[in-house]
Amino acid sequence: MAKMLRAGVMGLGGISGVHLQQYSQAEGVDLVAGADLRPAAVEAAVDKYGITGYADWRDMLDQADLDVVSVCTPPFLHREMALEAMSRGVHVICEKPIAASTEDAEAMAEAARTSKALLMIAYCHRWHPTILKTKELIDDGTLGKPLLYRCAFAGWIEFADNHRAVKSMSGGGALMDNGSHAADIYQFLLGKIANVSCRAGTRVQAMETDDEAVMIFEGENGCYGEILVGYSLPGDHTEFKIVGENGVLRLADYFGGPVKFQPKGSGDWIDHAITPGDRFEGEFANFLAAVRGEAQLISTAETALHIHRVVTAAYADAESKGVAVPR
Ligand SMILES: NC(=O)c1ccc[n+]([C@@H]2O[C@H](COP(=O)([O-])OP(=O)(O)OC[C@H]3O[C@@H](n4cnc5c(N)ncnc54)[C@H](O)[C@@H]3O)[C@@H](O)[C@H]2O)c1
Repeated sequence: MAKMLRAGVMGLGGISGVHLQQYSQAEGVDLVAGADLRPAAVEAAVDKYGITGYADWRDMLDQADLDVVSVCTPPFLHREMALEAMSRGVHVICEKPIAASTEDAEAMAEAARTSKALLMIAYCHRWHPTILKTKELIDDGTLGKPLLYRCAFAGWIEFADNHRAVKSMSGGGALMDNGSHAADIYQFLLGKIANVSCRAGTRVQAMETDDEAVMIFEGENGCYGEILVGYSLPGDHTEFKIVGENGVLRLADYFGGPVKFQPKGSGDWIDHAITPGDRFEGEFANFLAAVRGEAQLISTAETALHIHRVVTAAYADAESKGVAVPR
């Protein structure tokens, strides 16, 4: 029987619930430890999962004899935590975005290239059932040459007191947080992004970072793209569409499916049913299989570094405000 993998989690806030749950239900994994600065967060995880809790993540690495660890802290801590774990031979699944600065993102990608320990960046939408079905319809030629990509992840979330509101902790607001998901979905489906333009600003909430952003771009394959994100918009604006030479792919319900396809010249929509599943289950299955040497990582430090560069370039363009219209 394969060796049980001893798992721990650094940072026991919002997203850690997914990591704790996935480890606790995965076969061949023993969830043994968790660390957080906040005693209440440690206590809650200890009570729920029967793990050993730590106030200091370095003590956890020293004492818990981990094989795999999750980094679930704000982005400015990702580099220090991930690289320390990897230097001890512990495989890492680190939350997105990869880091808060380009220097950190590049250091993490370099470590991933040279270390024996694996580093996955948790861009979970790569395992989302509607995205997987969309990928099938692109890869089998149904869509044809891609012409236009549009993804909106926008609505209302209060983040004024959150790490996402502080540039040095997060690297950016709505565009770095949710726009990076939308850009990574493009990368997963259609390839790398060649150039970007952007408007990003702080419109409503008391934040240092952007609470609304619109990014347009061109893929290396010539496809034009548009990403709209926001924390401060009334209503839900989740929208996903790709237009290709052969027709239009659209998700009427991003989370539930089906994937709809309208062939060129037809008014009818064909529904493609999704294979039911859970993006986090898929993500952890890939990470654990890669750790066991049975699969390649699907979301890597390299792909996440590309997304960091895309978002950083978009912020730089947003500063310039484009070409002023003559009055
Ligand atoms: N994949 C997704 O869909 C998804 C969803 C939510 C969050 N995230 C990502 O997960 C990361 C964390 O976000 P969150 O919403 O869970 O944040 P959060 O603020 O809810 O949780 C972060 C936790 O880290 C702890 N922490 C901070 N400094 C620490 C330190 N030095 N040692 C130990 N613990 C420390 C905090 O006390 C807190 O409990 C971010 O990178 C975010 O972008 C990803």
